[in-house]
Amino acid sequence: MLNTASSRITEHWTPDSWRSLPASQLPRYADPDELARAEHALLRRPPLVPYDEVFALETRLAAAARGDAFLLQGGDCAERITPEPAVGPTCNVLDRMADILVAATSQPVVVVARMAGQLAKPRSDVVEHRDGLDLPVYRGDAINDLAFTPAGRLADPRRMLLAHEHSARVLAALRRRARRPFVCHEALLLPYEEASCRPTPAGGWYLSSAHFLWLGDRTRQRGGAHIELLRGILNPIGIKLGPTTEPDELVRLAHALDPTNRPGRLTFIVRMGASGIQTHLPSLVRRIRREGLQVGWVSDPMHGNTVRTDTGLKTRHVATLRSEVRLFLQILAAEGVPAAGIHLEMTGDRVTECVDASLHEHRLHERYTTACDPRLNDHQAIAFAAWLATQLSRGSYSQKETQP
Ligand code: PEP
Ligand code: CO
Repeated sequence: MLNTASSRITEHWTPDSWRSLPASQLPRYADPDELARAEHALLRRPPLVPYDEVFALETRLAAAARGDAFLLQGGDCAERITPEPAVGPTCNVLDRMADILVAATSQPVVVVARMAGQLAKPRSDVVEHRDGLDLPVYRGDAINDLAFTPAGRLADPRRMLLAHEHSARVLAALRRRARRPFVCHEALLLPYEEASCRPTPAGGWYLSSAHFLWLGDRTRQRGGAHIELLRGILNPIGIKLGPTTEPDELVRLAHALDPTNRPGRLTFIVRMGASGIQTHLPSLVRRIRREGLQVGWVSDPMHGNTVRTDTGLKTRHVATLRSEVRLFLQILAAEGVPAAGIHLEMTGDRVTECVDASLHEHRLHERYTTACDPRLNDHQAIAFAAWLATQLSRGSYSQKETQP
């Protein structure tokens, strides 16, 4: 029944049909004419990624969902727009992590970088207070500036053009590398995403802004604009699942975004927190399995485990991240469902943002450079991959063995 309903709705989809629906987390632009000019300019820009690459990724994600490949998704929480983007350090770390995981699992690892467009952020607060001043929060370089000034924090639609130019530079740098990751970002800034909609050679539309797009935990409301845009495009889609996700709602969402149950179309990115995953995940996995839906289950141990230090810095403890991943693997194995991958906020730089045995909380201020959430540094990211490799190669999590 749900299937029929959603395919009927798909007939009425257009790249701009999201505009009549409530949209959370979008910036309010002061000047509608400026916005329209930026949108028109974006429409004339070339696509950032070609559809054949998008389709190739879907095939690989379908393999990951079946347990025949493993997805490694990683990069900054909020990417910064730079004239000469340095993709090397983060990509080198992703490559090393992939090699470690390949050696442990003997499976292909699909690397998807949070790059070339991870420039718009959902935020919990609307306003930031600092030194007696209240200003709009930073929403990512595609929307406003990190600088805490009234001019900096204004949402400026021309930033979407800068975001496109930056993303093109990042992709050019990625294409010059011997090993090329796919790219992904949260599909949050709908005017930017709509302008990137292009017809595919075989009919239908895709978002040419990235290979893989995800729906954030704060923008997956039923009847909302973000779901509306994503249901009509052909890219593989991720859905972030926080602890408030209800089984019925998730089934509805899956049908809305994937009425034909296409392998590789949907990846669920679980970010429930080490203390919430045991309560919330098993019923979701069971329900999705019972419905016969073919989705990949990926662990994002970062977003449910953010804490603040006494001095007010956001951080994450590697031990807590591990404990969420361990529970994730145990829960999936118990349900006989393969773990399709891992989603991390990390960088190739030696930052001090997450706490572990060799990086104490009191040292976090030393190189705390993230524009949004705390990331694993190069050492921590590689160590995390090595630890994950031991978990994945252990018989106790071997999903293939437990599958019916
Ligand atoms: C993110 O991935 O940076 C993010 C904001 O995720 P979530 O929607 O899961 O909070
Ligand atoms: Co984040």
